[in-house]
Amino acid sequence: MQKLVIRGGTALEGEISLPGAKNSALPLLAASVLCKGETFFENCPRLTDVFSACRILTNIGCRCNMKGHTVSVCADSINLSEIPETLMQEMRSSIVFLGALLGRTGSCQVYYPGGCELGPRPIDLHLDALKRMGAKIRRHEGRLDCSAPEGLCGCCIHLKFPSVGATENIMLAAVLAKGETVICNAAREPEICDLADFLRKCGAHIKGDGESTLRIKGTKELHGCIHRIMPDRIAGVTYLSAAAITGGTIKLSGVKNAHMENVLPVLEQAGCRIDRSEDFIYLRSPKRLRSVSRLRTMPHPGFPTDVQAIIMSIMTLADGITVFEENIFESRYRHVDGLIQMGAEICVSGRTAVVSGVKKLYGAHAAATDLRGGAALVIAGLAAEGITEIRQIHHIDRGYEEIEKVLKGAGADIRRIS
Ligand code: UD1
Repeated sequence: MQKLVIRGGTALEGEISLPGAKNSALPLLAASVLCKGETFFENCPRLTDVFSACRILTNIGCRCNMKGHTVSVCADSINLSEIPETLMQEMRSSIVFLGALLGRTGSCQVYYPGGCELGPRPIDLHLDALKRMGAKIRRHEGRLDCSAPEGLCGCCIHLKFPSVGATENIMLAAVLAKGETVICNAAREPEICDLADFLRKCGAHIKGDGESTLRIKGTKELHGCIHRIMPDRIAGVTYLSAAAITGGTIKLSGVKNAHMENVLPVLEQAGCRIDRSEDFIYLRSPKRLRSVSRLRTMPHPGFPTDVQAIIMSIMTLADGITVFEENIFESRYRHVDGLIQMGAEICVSGRTAVVSGVKKLYGAHAAATDLRGGAALVIAGLAAEGITEIRQIHHIDRGYEEIEKVLKGAGADIRRIS
């Protein structure tokens, strides 16, 4: 069991270069199943979730190699369309292999996916959409047996919620389906656009990504290509917040500024000075952060649920009261206990959390309960007086590549011990 040990109190200084986005890499790796020939993904983060996706690819017969930050996949010799339960359970994104495998082979057997415990995470929207496209899905002892004997057919699908995963699954099923698929109320996250960009390079016909209505015209065959994965906007907010809470100054390079416009104004409202160019962000912190007006998590382009814990962490030391409203997941305040252990004043009632800023946090022994919640504890630890120890850091490793090295490079006193 490894843990992170942080001695708080050092202001972060320097430059951090953003890695590729986990939430983009995973559906992209699933999409490679649809291509003939070799596909190369550059800027692929070295994360446990990415390694899990590579294991799924290898398991179904793909050639998959990761060298540094480039992954190559050749899916020409797929020989199995069943993904074992242990691999499905390793992460939530394993479910996007369903649409890809169905599209490619016309049948597959998968299990319910794992991933962060954020409350119930049903997959009804994924399954309903695939059924509408002609898939037959039978539940058998926890396994989903899926087949499309007549092939998948395009149709109009109205999502009752703009689910990111369901939109990705439908896109993957639709690119090789017969006819046109229209997704109404589609997710508009930048990762959807990255997936659409990749699929277009492979020969797919997709329009409307980044908007609420996505149109996909099926094609007979897709071919591999070279694709550079978009920068990780959530890791970006994490490192900016780490600088902000410690009173630091940081240059974040390799960013796509436009992807972060739903969060940067919050940091500005908190008193940070932010200079942006297209591919870097420069943040200077104020002497003390200020509280911000009510933050409601919403689908993109709203305030992202993935940064709720991270921004909450910095608001624990802000002057004033900040109210959070979590509207995407039912149980996404599990980091609050850890923050309270460190001296934060937070009151949770249902979907709402009220943070009254304190002057100081104190080092504590806390456990990461999920990926972003774990990152929130690290950020708090950087500013806390004394030593903070964070256990269960496998959650953090799912989404941050060597977080301790990145933060250490910017001056933080943090180390990983076994
Ligand atoms: C993705 C991201 C995750 C992010 C989330 C919301 C990845 C790997 N993960 O997760 O980091 O927090 O988007 O931006 O990209 N829902 C249903 N039925 C479904 C599908 C979803 O009710 O079939 C509900 C979920 O329970 C949740 C909400 O819709 O309450 C959002 O889920 P969704 O957008 O699908 O999130 P993920 O794709 O799982």
